[in-house]
Order: sequence, then structure tokens, then C-alpha cells
Amino acid sequence: MIRAVPIGAGHYLPKNVVTNSELAKTVDTSDDWIVTRTGIQQRHFAADGEYTSDLAIAAAKDALENAGIEASDIDSIILATSTPDQTFPSTATKVQAGLGMTSGFAFDVQAVCAGFAFAMTTANSLIVAGQSKRALVIGAETFSRIMDWEDRTTCVLFGDGAGAVILEAQECEGTPNDRGILACELSSDGNYNDLLYVDGGVSSTQTTGVLRMQGQEVFKHAVSKLAAAGETAMERAGVTSDDVDWVVPHQANLRIIKSTAKKMGVPMEKVVLTVHNHGNTSAASIPLALSVAVKSGQIKRGNLVLTEAIGGGLAWGAVVFRW
Ligand code: UT7
Repeated sequence: MIRAVPIGAGHYLPKNVVTNSELAKTVDTSDDWIVTRTGIQQRHFAADGEYTSDLAIAAAKDALENAGIEASDIDSIILATSTPDQTFPSTATKVQAGLGMTSGFAFDVQAVCAGFAFAMTTANSLIVAGQSKRALVIGAETFSRIMDWEDRTTCVLFGDGAGAVILEAQECEGTPNDRGILACELSSDGNYNDLLYVDGGVSSTQTTGVLRMQGQEVFKHAVSKLAAAGETAMERAGVTSDDVDWVVPHQANLRIIKSTAKKMGVPMEKVVLTVHNHGNTSAASIPLALSVAVKSGQIKRGNLVLTEAIGGGLAWGAVVFRW
């Protein structure tokens, strides 16, 4: 059978680093509060004139280099973002042009912080259906552009960044020992719109709006929904939490990451953590963390990886794959 096998990963973080203490000079907060409640120590902000597509292109180039292939070897780009350069066309088409590609197809996926799970699942479906041979799957965000800097309950949490993974169609045996995506699990429930949203939009206010979140409420849903999605994906893949080598969770809050890992029966030694370095980068956080773990040698070829994420919608999901 055909599976979507990861052959490379890359990431990019903007140069401007803002620590908690620096943020506390302009926002009524403290390093102690942010570290204790979230595990975040610093975040990266895109420079003036640096767009989501620029971050995505940098991450994509890093992933292409990591895979040892050229942009012309790619035939599809799926970009998860909630902070596109323009209302339309898709940021993915800007990335396509930026990489010098003149063929293939590119489009955006919007599932907020769960965006990368949705993008991976979409890419997997396209590859398995024979619609794409090599997909560039990107998560890229500039959440600094939708912050309310007067709202300390949200503006300390988010940062900008991008990550990318390249998936290739490969013939496999069809067992859990195969490399590639073994199972995906997606969910959403639009009844929870008010827990995490942006208070503007094209058809409603004709403004961009800023992020609003009922943090405690999102927190309550996060652990149970993430653990359930992870368990369903593992069951569908024919593996157990003992088989998992690495969990690469959405990097929003260290407390959520720890509680979810515990609920799934995975020790923290098997969890990739980068949240301290960049805060919540929404759809970028999973591929960012994955790329860091691949480059550092934590994740090795053949390792079984579980990713899980939740965000606005609510939308959530999990993907199990063998690197
Ligand atoms: O990626 C999408 C998914 N989103 C998430 O995963 C976020 C989920 N939620 C969370 O991570 C947590 O709920 C937060 C980190 C947002 C907040 O942590 P919390 O432990 O739930 O804090 P809280 O909202 O209960 O606030 C506790 C106190 C409040 O003061 P009082 O009412 O106890 O006096 C807040 O006003 O902390 C105060 N507070 C702050 N203090 C200093 C809220 N934000 C800050 C701040 N600095 N930045």
C-alpha cells in the first residue's frame, strides 16, 4: 500500500526574541507568572515587513535541505495558518512562488492551533489517493499581529514562527512497522466558538480583529480531548502508548502537555518540549518542535511519533506516524 512517509523537516523563528521580563516592562505581568502557569520563557516576533509567507518559505527551504531535494520535486503545498498575508489568495501560493515553483498546487488550511494535524491529514489523504507524490506541509503564523496588547491574559502566550515537513508517497507493507503516517484522528465542535476566536473578520466587521480567549475553559477541554484523540489515533494505527517513542504535542502550555502525556500513559522523557523557547505559535508549533527534535537527534529514523493539538473552533486532532 501507499503511505505518506516523512523525508525531511525544517523550521524558522524570527530573529527578534522577547523575554518574559522584557514583556513585563509594557504589560502588567511577570516572568514568574508566565513560567509557572505556562512554561513559556520567551517568544519570537516577526520584524516589520516580515510576513507569514516569509516565515513559511524559510521553514520550507530548511525542510527541503533536510530532505535533500529541490522545490521542483514538490507537487503540492498545504499550509496551515490563521494569520495569512492576505485574505486571498492563499499564503500557500505565495510560498509556491517564493520557492520558484511553476507547477503543482497549493492551498491553505485553517484549523487554528490544530491546523498542522488537519494539514497532515489532508496531505496524507491526497498522497494515498494518488493526487500528490511529494507534499510540502507547513504551519506558519504571525500571531503577534492579532494580539490585544492591553490583554495580559492572552498577549503573553503567543509568538511567531514556522515549521515544515515533507511527505513522500512510498510503497509499504501496510503494517504498524511501516514508516509514514499510520493513522489520523480529527474532530471539531463549533458550539465552542466563543472560547477562542478573533473578534473581527471579512464578512462580519471588515477588520482583522484581535484574539479573545477564555483560557481556563480551553484548558479544561484540552487535556481530555487531546488524550482521547491521541488514544483513538494510536488504536487506529495498531499501536499502544508503550510503542510510542516520541510525543510531539502542540506547544501551548507545559501544564496541558504534562497532563495530557500522563493521561495517555506516556512518560515526560518521551515528550518533545520547545514551548519555553517560542510560546504558542499556533499551527506552527508541531512542525517547529518536530524539526528541532529531528535536528537535535532526539527523533531518529524509524521512531514512532504521536502528535496532538487543539485550538479555536474548537478543533482538535492527532496523527501517528513513523519517522
Ligand atoms: O493553543 C490554543 C489552546 N489554548 C490553550 O491551550 C490555552 C489554555 N489555557 C491556558 O493555558 C491557561 O488557562 C492560561 C495560561 C491562559 C491561564 O492560566 P490559569 O492558571 O488558567 O490562570 P487564570 O486564567 O485562572 O488566572 C489566574 C490569575 C488571575 O488573577 P486572579 O483573578 O486570581 O486575581 C488573572 O487575572 O492570574 C491573573 N493573570 C495574570 N497575572 C499575571 C492572568 N494573566 C496574567 C498575566 N500575568 N499575564
